[in-house]
Formats: sequence, C-alpha cells, structure tokens
Amino acid sequence: MLVSATEMLNKAKAGHYAVGQFNINNLEWTKMILQAAQENNSPVILGVSEGAGKYMTGFKTVAAMVSAMIDEMKITVPVALHLDHGSYEGAKKCIAAGFSSVMFDGSHYGIEENIQKTREIIELAHSLGISVEAEVGAIGGEEDGVIGGGEVADPNECKMIADLGVDMLAAGIGNIHGVYPANWKGLNFEVLAAIQEKTGTMPLVLHGGTGIPDDMIKKAIDLGVSKINVNTECQLVFAEATRQYIEAGKDKQGKGFDPRKLLAPGAAAIKDKVTEKMILFGSVNKA
Ligand code: 13P
Repeated sequence: MLVSATEMLNKAKAGHYAVGQFNINNLEWTKMILQAAQENNSPVILGVSEGAGKYMTGFKTVAAMVSAMIDEMKITVPVALHLDHGSYEGAKKCIAAGFSSVMFDGSHYGIEENIQKTREIIELAHSLGISVEAEVGAIGGEEDGVIGGGEVADPNECKMIADLGVDMLAAGIGNIHGVYPANWKGLNFEVLAAIQEKTGTMPLVLHGGTGIPDDMIKKAIDLGVSKINVNTECQLVFAEATRQYIEAGKDKQGKGFDPRKLLAPGAAAIKDKVTEKMILFGSVNKA
C-alpha cells in the first residue's frame, strides 16, 4: 500500500524503533526491498535520489513502477515512495509524478531561505497528503552528486524548521554518506539529544546509515531517530555477490549469462541486507 511516511514514522517515534529508507536504482532493487518488507511485515521507505530518478528515465517511470509492483506483488505493508535530497524543483516534480513523500534539502541555503523554501514545499505537499522531510546542518560526503560539508546542525534552527510543520527532520550530527573513514569520530549524541529536546515528538532522520556500528544505531533510536537511510551498503553487497558469480565462471555455465540468473545473487544479497537492517532498526512486525 503506497502511503505517505507520516503515520509510519509517528508510530515508530512513539514505539521507539526506526523505519528504514532503502534507496532504489532499478527494478531488482525495488522488488527485493518490497519482498523483504512484506516477508518481515515491516513498513518501508523507498528512497530515490534525483540521479537515480534520472537513471530510471524520470520520476514518472519510478512512481508507475512502484505502484504497479505494489499491486502485482500484493504488497500490503505500508510503503512510502520518497525523494532523497531533493532540490526545490525536484521536489515539485516528484509531487506531480505521484511520489507519496519528498525530502527538500535546503541545507546549503542560509536558514532564512531554507525556511522559506521548505514552507512552500510543505504547503504544496500537504495539500495532497504527501509527507515532507527537511534538512538542517549537512550530511558529510557525497550522495549521488549532492555534496555536503558535514556541518553539525544547530538545535535552534532545527526547532525553527520543525515548527513549520515538517513531518521528519534530517539533522547533521557527524554522519556521512558512503563508507566511514577509519578516523571517523562517531555520531554527536549531545547534539542529537539537544535536537530531540527542542523538536519533541517530530521524527528525526539519520542519513548515512551504511557502516554506523549497531550500538550507535540503537542509541540514536533511543534518542529519537525514527527513520534511518541506507544506500551504499546495498550497493556493496550487490557488487560483491555479482563479482563472486562472475569470478566463479557461472555466467559461462549453461545459460548463466541470462540477466535473470546473473543478477539473482546480487538481488538476494540486497534482500538479506534489508532484512538484517529491519531487524536491527526494530521495524519487523510493525506494519
Ligand atoms: P549511505 O549511502 O551512507 O547508506 O547513506 C544513505 C543516505 O543517507 C541516503 O540519503
């Protein structure tokens, strides 16, 4: 069932668990994440970066594919289709294309402009029952061409954005997209606690989920994080399983070159990874 992310995240916040956002790149990714969600009876958020949207030929294709898959695969758990790190124009396009949720990432603007643009996106999205994620501070590293400086969020600015009526808020707390460097200092829990204090019941979002140790994930959930984004980890397990298949020469045995066979180990690896994260985040049987 395609729904906005609001209700599933409010339930997660009240129930002290988190819903995973898993980024999609193509049909295999989407199908495996939906299968994992259904089998684990877990709500799920499908994340689409602007780059991935373009790769899949446009947001309308993505929205049509996801809603058709939900129907054909008889998916009954709540699924949100969410724009990840959207620009102002990108958010508007996704709203028109049939997404059920959008992130408007105005973190690279000054706070006044971020507030102004976030307010406009909220007005438009909420009039159609679509949920909105905003960002304050910045997530370090690169997410599909969007580069963040890693500035830690100011809890007062988080409150200003929360007060606009945003449904979920991403705040930079030392998290980074992609693999963490060996000298990474970890998440800034003091800032997270201060943001939680200021923003109350509003669900907080932890980006850069790949490679954050399990104990830090659990502590972040305890401190009010109710949505956790994972992208790179699925890409890494997909690539590794595919490499093993090819290196073992399986593509040269019989019809092993058939794309449905060639892509199967990578797809299975994505499903296992998503299941592992749903268990860690506590969203199993929370549909
Ligand atoms: P990772 O690629 O580090 O898992 O981050 C995903 C993310 O935050 C998407 O917005």
